[in-house]
Amino acid sequence: MSNAILTAHRIFKHYRSGSKVVKAVDDVSLSVEKGASLCVTGASGAGKSTLLQLLGGLDCPTSGSVMLDGGDIYKLSDSKRSKIRNRRVGFVFQFFHLLPEFNAIENVMLPAMIGGKAVYDKAYELLKSVGLGDRIEHKPCELSGGESQRVAIARALINDPDILLCDEPTGNLDSETSESIYRLLFDIKTKSSAAIVIVTHDDNLARRTDAVIHLKDGRVV
Ligand SMILES: Nc1ncnc2c1ncn2[C@@H]1O[C@H](COP(=O)(O)OP(=O)(O)O)[C@@H](O)[C@H]1O
Ligand SMILES: [Mg+2]
Repeated sequence: MSNAILTAHRIFKHYRSGSKVVKAVDDVSLSVEKGASLCVTGASGAGKSTLLQLLGGLDCPTSGSVMLDGGDIYKLSDSKRSKIRNRRVGFVFQFFHLLPEFNAIENVMLPAMIGGKAVYDKAYELLKSVGLGDRIEHKPCELSGGESQRVAIARALINDPDILLCDEPTGNLDSETSESIYRLLFDIKTKSSAAIVIVTHDDNLARRTDAVIHLKDGRVV
């Protein structure tokens, strides 16, 4: 039996603009084992973000399938896919995507509120675990870049996801802060057994993950 939590089989994402077709993702297959880490590298425009969105059920492939814990997420209705995404997948983005009008703990609680649970205590524990127990009432504009990303990581963990998908999580941070964010992500992987996929420009990170794929023009090279 396969031990994969996530499997993509021959996925394509082609965009048409006028007479031109952009092959953002062009026949990619990959698999991520439970609790494993995968690094996706490649130049700007190589298709990394598009691939990550396809893996996480945020976008529909032109063709191909994405299996999350055994089921093809693109065979589901939009609402079922949103539910699975909310419960199973945690996303971390380069620009944090925190909601500016909510404070740190409210931002962390949001994905769980959608799931209808009372989660304040859990959100507080998560913020403490990322080193922000004394920042829970700060709004995003009152947090540094590194702190904002820690809040975003706590938010990604609120529903105990099976997999964390991180799109250039340190792309907007200095190198010291980046290192602390990477340490946090690997620490989470060790403690929670969540699998993790990290898209990055940083070739050094590739040495620290279980597997690496390099994308060029939407293809694995
Ligand atoms: N919505 C879209 N419409 C048309 N082309 C797009 C769209 N999104 C991305 N692309 C194109 O797909 C390619 C891959 O983009 P992206 O996945 O963002 O690359 P990366 O994250 O590696 O920088 C780029 O050439 C980009 O211009
Ligand atoms: Mg990108």
